[in-house]
Order: sequence, then C-alpha cells, then structure tokens
Amino acid sequence: MKKPFVIAIDGASSTGKSTLAKGLAKALGFAHVDSGAMYRGVTLYAQQNDLLENKTLNTEVLLSQLDDIHLRFEGDTFWLNGVDVSAEIRSMQVSEAVSLVAAIPEVRAFLVAQQRIMGANQSVVMDGRDIGTVVFPKADLKLFLTADVNIRAQRRFDELSAQNASTSVEEVRNNLAERDHLDSTRADSPLVQAADAVPLDATQFTVESMRDHVLDLVAERLS
Ligand code: DC
Repeated sequence: MKKPFVIAIDGASSTGKSTLAKGLAKALGFAHVDSGAMYRGVTLYAQQNDLLENKTLNTEVLLSQLDDIHLRFEGDTFWLNGVDVSAEIRSMQVSEAVSLVAAIPEVRAFLVAQQRIMGANQSVVMDGRDIGTVVFPKADLKLFLTADVNIRAQRRFDELSAQNASTSVEEVRNNLAERDHLDSTRADSPLVQAADAVPLDATQFTVESMRDHVLDLVAERLS
C-alpha cells in the first residue's frame, strides 16, 4: 500500500481551516478530519450529562466516562453516540466552554490517539491547533493559517446567523479572542506554529486561490 499523505492545518478559530481542508480533501480524494469537532463533541457530551455548568466542569466524572463517548465522522456529518450533532457542536454554548475541555491533558490524549489512527491508514487533511506539532509531527505538509480577528468574527457570525442563532458580532469576537488566549497559553499542546509549517494569511486569498496555492505545494512535495 502507498504510504498515506498527511496534510496538517493549524491556526486559530475561524481562520478558514475547515473550508480549506474540505476543498483540499475533495480535490485530492483524501479524508477530512476536523479535530475541533471532536473537542466540541466531548464538550457537548459533558453539557448533556450535566458535567459542565457555568464553565465549571466535573473533570473527574468526565474522565471516568471518556470510554462512553463515541465520536464518528461520515462526510460532513459528525456523530456523538449515534446522534447527528453537526449543528449542535457549533452553538455558542459549546464554543464558550470548549477551551476548558480542550485544556485537559487526558481528554487530549484520548482524542489524539483516535486522530493518529485516522491518519495511519489513509491520506488525510486534518485541521486543528496541534496537528503539525503533536498529532502528526512528521506530516508531509504543514500549514499555519492566520487572519484578521474582525474578519474571523464576521465569518463565524455569518455561519451562526445562517443557523438562526441569536448572537452579535461583538459576542462572537469576544469569544474568539478569549479562546485564542486560552488555546495559545494552555500548558498542554498550545496553539503554536510548527517550525516547518508554511504560514498562510487567509486575508490575502480567496477560498479558491488558497486551495489552488496549497495544491501546488502538495504537487511539489509529491514529486
Ligand atoms: O476549530 P474549532 O474552533 O472548532 O475548535 C474548537 C476548540 O477546540 C478550540 O477552541 C480549541 C480546541 N481544539 C484544540 O485544542 N485542538 C485541536 N486540535 C482542535 C481544536
């Protein structure tokens, strides 16, 4: 079997990682794994089971129940214990609590193990915060996305509005800034650019031009 090709895309929330990852996966016939969805899935599980209220997490009970949390991707659909939660994991309620859950080393180890399996037997485009630094330090291509915070807030606000969520651009921007801070300063696997990652400023590209630019990089690495 040909060795799988792994593309790691890291960067802050709403910089367009998932859009880029989806476009690349489609063009290359690779699987796409949105690792943020997995942290969101664990957060939603905690909320559904009353383990997370007002940003207070019952870490001990959550950790004792990790093996009861079954996450699965099927195309763009994301399943938590057999239920399609693709829309629910994007809610502000989940966004406001996810950084807390993502900072727990045992939760990270639980999800990283699953992410590594997903990239072991198939070519994959995986996006997140620590894919090029921790999950796949030997990825064939690493990208690090940045974008202006106001553009990121508008993007996420537009996505939430399309789902009829009642929120404001201000609220979304504050949440992004808070998560940027928590995700970049946590002790375990903080959001940092890998030394060998290619930096990309999403503000400088259209969706298509960024995808095509990266496809050129893939072709170079493959040749
Ligand atoms: O990409 P996103 O906004 O859906 O990610 C949700 C949260 O999950 C984000 O605040 C940080 C966390 N996360 C992480 O810690 N490591 C990853 N590989 C992916 C996401």
